Amino acid sequence: MRPAARRPRSGRLPLRVRRAPVPWERQAPTWRDAKPWLITEALKRARSRPSGNWYVIGASRALPPGKALGVTVGSTEVVAWRDGAGKLRTGPGACPHLGAPLRDSPVRCGTLVCHWHGLALDGRPFAGWEPYPAFDDGVLLWVRLDAMGASPLRNVRTYPAGRGRGTPWRRSTPAWGAASRKTSWANRLDPWHGAWFHPYSFVDLTVTGTPADSPADDDGFTVDVSFKVAGGLVVPRPGPVHGARGGTVVMHIVEGEGAGSVVETHATPLAPDERGKPRTAVTEALVAASDRRGFAVARAAAPLLRPLMRASAGRLWRDDLAYAERRWELRDSGTFPG
Ligand code: FES
Ligand SMILES: [Fe+2]
Repeated sequence: MRPAARRPRSGRLPLRVRRAPVPWERQAPTWRDAKPWLITEALKRARSRPSGNWYVIGASRALPPGKALGVTVGSTEVVAWRDGAGKLRTGPGACPHLGAPLRDSPVRCGTLVCHWHGLALDGRPFAGWEPYPAFDDGVLLWVRLDAMGASPLRNVRTYPAGRGRGTPWRRSTPAWGAASRKTSWANRLDPWHGAWFHPYSFVDLTVTGTPADSPADDDGFTVDVSFKVAGGLVVPRPGPVHGARGGTVVMHIVEGEGAGSVVETHATPLAPDERGKPRTAVTEALVAASDRRGFAVARAAAPLLRPLMRASAGRLWRDDLAYAERRWELRDSGTFPG
């Protein structure tokens, strides 16, 4: 006899009301633990890892069929579009005839048609135009630029595990500013600033492990933190791990609701601004997946919470870019090491 089906227990939203929050100025200072050398060492290790010369050029959803996307990665102008099968196609952004900006050209039935004289590109080599390797992983668009990168290892994809499991809740957020790629990473490798600099987003942040505490093969920072949703409402996230691999800073949620989720931060160098200052595009991708019941309920509630989370995320982005810009300016002027 088949056992009686168990009635599903009602879901539980992983939100907590935080009672008697500690005022901002009375939380524990973190500057003694946030040792500059520790951040610099983590950054050095991250930069020494192979990136495979892959760069994120945008979010998958930012490139619908029939549109062209133009991005200048460092000094390389790239155009991207989708062919008739929806596959990502990329290559030099200048038309091989007389150099028209292909980002402004229309896409007709998966073919990019130059708007100056009608040269048509279907994504295969043509008239001296050579495509770049590219792929769309479902969240982000990637291009491989071997002329730009120093990484000898090709075909190393820098994204971590997490794609394609279950039915992840995906989101990506692009932002850009006058910071270098290096200082944008350095910002992410300083988890101690979270509750001080972003009190509107984080609360009760404790760094529980650093690379200095771990064997040489373990590069992660472990952090306990709660994400502020509104007022006293928080989503506790015990045990996220920050690590950096080949150009990408990754946060894994390892415990609690949302365990198995991944937050990636990708920094793509852009062409310098008119004053010669570096510019960096920072793209964050959230690939949220968990079998836990509370998490499923949280996903169901996401439409309600999303506007609040988006508002604080926008501010978080601006502040983190300001942090990275400030560190770049001080380093560039030689007034501050690091
Ligand atoms: S510049 Fe593109 S066809 Fe002439
Ligand atoms: Fe930050």
